[in-house]
Amino acid sequence: MMNLQWYPGHMTKAIRMMQADIKLIDLVIELIDARIPVSSRNPDIDELAKGKSRLILLNKSDLADEARNKEWLRHFTDKGLVTLLLDSKNRKGFNEINRAIEEACKAKLERDRARGIIGRPVRAMVVGIPNVGKSTFINSFCKRASTKTGNKPGVTKGKQWIKINKSLELLDTPGILWPRFENESIGLNLAFIGSINDEILDEAELSLKLIEYLVSDYPGVLTGRFDTDENGTATAILEHIASKRGCIKKGGETDYDKAAHIVLDEFRSGKLGRITLEMP
Ligand code: G4P
Repeated sequence: MMNLQWYPGHMTKAIRMMQADIKLIDLVIELIDARIPVSSRNPDIDELAKGKSRLILLNKSDLADEARNKEWLRHFTDKGLVTLLLDSKNRKGFNEINRAIEEACKAKLERDRARGIIGRPVRAMVVGIPNVGKSTFINSFCKRASTKTGNKPGVTKGKQWIKINKSLELLDTPGILWPRFENESIGLNLAFIGSINDEILDEAELSLKLIEYLVSDYPGVLTGRFDTDENGTATAILEHIASKRGCIKKGGETDYDKAAHIVLDEFRSGKLGRITLEMP
């Protein structure tokens, strides 16, 4: 059994609800952030979803590096998991979803058929860490489905199921998993993408770490966006960005916090380009 000790009370309750909900479903649709596919994936899901069909969606792939997206796709596919790249916000990647679901549920459908069960819809549930795009995905998926089939949500046994098509029903409430802060880099990655409250972290420190990463893994990105020199320390680069963006306090001092905020904000919104923070 998984170790729940780390989780505060309300998270434990959410996990219990999800364990109960998972009993009702055939297919677990797991959303991962394509920019940090390791850090945004709670490893408990493998235990929770044991015996279920699985589909992995690398969401926010529009913000992630295209070459690395392909590597991650191969990584998960090689592990035997049916995986798709998705951009739920702009509804891209949905054309392949029905095929992927069919593939993911192949063994289950064959088992059903062998037992003479034909035409029973697959029941699915979306899971993932907060902010990974679960609600956006469900909305995009349903809108697509309803424009096609005109189906309305149905009520069964107190649970809301959304009829996507005649062979698929989706539980309308997603399962929330919390990230696992197994090491410092996971916490940092979650903070970079804005999944952890900025208030609990020093933005200036965080931006310096991001600058270090970008200079080494994506040389030229900071120069391209801020017209800054990339030689020298991260602090020197941040100072340069501050002067380029007019981040100066009243007394003429450099406003590092303001510059840090700009760097983080422009990274998160994709203005620095498509960047992936983890490699397979
Ligand atoms: P959750 O249910 O898992 O907690 O996540 P939710 O759907 O609320 O999405 C969190 C944020 O991520 C939202 O942004 C949403 O628009 C954005 N998002 C979801 N999927 C994608 C995607 O594939 N690509 C991109 N680029 N963004 C995505 P927000 O800042 O809260 O709102 P807004 O900026 O959309 O107004």
